[in-house]
Amino acid sequence: MPLPRSLFSSEAPADHDLTVTAGAWPAELSGELVLSAPHPDTLTGAHPFFGEGMTYRLSLAPGRHGAPADALAWRQRRIDSPSARLRAARPDVFRATMVGVQSPFGHTNAANTAPLPWGDRLFTTWDVGRPVEVDPLSLAYLGDVGHRSQWQSFEIGPQPLLPLVMSTAHPVIDPDRNVLWTVNTSWGALHVARWDGEGAVEQWPVTGATIPQSVHTITQTREGLLVADCAFKVEPQTLAGGARTEPTNPSGPLYLIRKADLDATPPGQEVPCQVFEVAPENNHYYATYDDTDGVTVLFEHTENADLAMTQQPGDLDALGRPCDPALRGLYGFPMSPDRTTLVVFDPDRGEVVHRAEQRRPELLWTRQLNAMDWSAEGRERPTLHHTVHQGFRPEAITQEMLHLYRDRVDRTLLPSEETAPVIASTSLPDLELTAHHELAIDDFPTSPIFVPRDPGADPSRSRHAGTDPGGHDGFVVVPIVNDAGFRVEVYDAADVGAGPIATASKPGMTVSFVLHSAWMPKVGPAPDVARNRFSDELERIGELPDDLADVARQVARDLDEGVPLDA
Ligand SMILES: [Fe+2]
Repeated sequence: MPLPRSLFSSEAPADHDLTVTAGAWPAELSGELVLSAPHPDTLTGAHPFFGEGMTYRLSLAPGRHGAPADALAWRQRRIDSPSARLRAARPDVFRATMVGVQSPFGHTNAANTAPLPWGDRLFTTWDVGRPVEVDPLSLAYLGDVGHRSQWQSFEIGPQPLLPLVMSTAHPVIDPDRNVLWTVNTSWGALHVARWDGEGAVEQWPVTGATIPQSVHTITQTREGLLVADCAFKVEPQTLAGGARTEPTNPSGPLYLIRKADLDATPPGQEVPCQVFEVAPENNHYYATYDDTDGVTVLFEHTENADLAMTQQPGDLDALGRPCDPALRGLYGFPMSPDRTTLVVFDPDRGEVVHRAEQRRPELLWTRQLNAMDWSAEGRERPTLHHTVHQGFRPEAITQEMLHLYRDRVDRTLLPSEETAPVIASTSLPDLELTAHHELAIDDFPTSPIFVPRDPGADPSRSRHAGTDPGGHDGFVVVPIVNDAGFRVEVYDAADVGAGPIATASKPGMTVSFVLHSAWMPKVGPAPDVARNRFSDELERIGELPDDLADVARQVARDLDEGVPLDA
């Protein structure tokens, strides 16, 4: 059975009420699942990562947000940002490319990659734009983080109103300082950015820190921030439709920046860093907050995968079959089994002091995303790390990729046919596979979440913490795409191998390609705080032709007056 074709369906998203169709929905399951995704009507085939952002939200307790007493509310909304509103008004001037969607207004901020809860606030992010705030309840756009003048834009074409900001889809919230840390790269030079939630975004250039490819993640310990070069490679000729000539870099630098240096240095002035080399390719990585005995980082390597290469007409897949046009635009899945490492760095000695590795070629291929306990206590000392893996998927590997990576791929490890998706639990810090559950071969599990048991019950703990933080005490919730219908499965985090304890679905409901998810203990209207407004960013409107300038002024008025975008 192939990958679900509903992945790239352009069917319009809708609100639904899901009911429990198998097992017993745990009464202890609480809060809301939030998902970021490209809107299906902008999955143009260029790259699914560049579709316009939208947000899905599923209540994990029944009877919320207008759902019947026995049903779970699935709600959704396009992010009605300036980018989306300008595009809705003048779709004819927007053009999809391999580095995003461009227009005379500038570069679209899709904000489609990851939800980032921060207290009662909700942000959505991506790698080539500022974080965007949305209302957790209505999912309406509230503002981009920081005036554009507080960011360095990458102005490769005119960007009078929509700047291209090289940032990361995975900022972190500092539990001790209550600030957001992220990055802003400028022509490959790494800057760390800090935002307190209302004031100006402050930045520090990092001495000698260059990013050879891109940044997708920043992670933190109590004392430090870590930023690695990530394996999304954009070669200049590909921007004009040319073919790739080199695979992703086989290793990359990891920079460790001390928070004390940032605290002590005025914004704009350089801060020092330590550099370590990490291999193979990195994309997602997570530091343990407690760094008393060294800096511990779990790396989810994307070895011999190519997220920047997509299926195009005429491509053949790994088994030599013509690629299905229904999957056009799908990025390149891994040609090697998943490799996860846990590395302990000693910052005083400047060296790696411990390394554990997980690699199970018979079982774990195409790690998608993870579920972990994001509470401060859970990150302080994580116990279980849950991941979903799509299985080996020859349909999602092209002959062009196999050729480009011919010197790096061990073909003896390639299964002869596709293998089933797996949900896996891995213990920390030893990286033992403690449990796994195989899904059906036609399932496509998407971004899972961890929901702690009884969050907030202990007032001495943070609001996201459950009764026993770390990732083992609670539930793993997995949204699953399947052509026969979308469903959501719930697992006991301590016993994923037992299979789902409950399933919710609705007949006939499909959901297309989604990206990261997050858990919020509750949602309500966004707090009333000062926010950056698009109408304060019209300084360069004179660079636009009159008709487009008029559109931009109308969009600014609509945003200020709260006029909804009909979508
Ligand atoms: Fe990501």
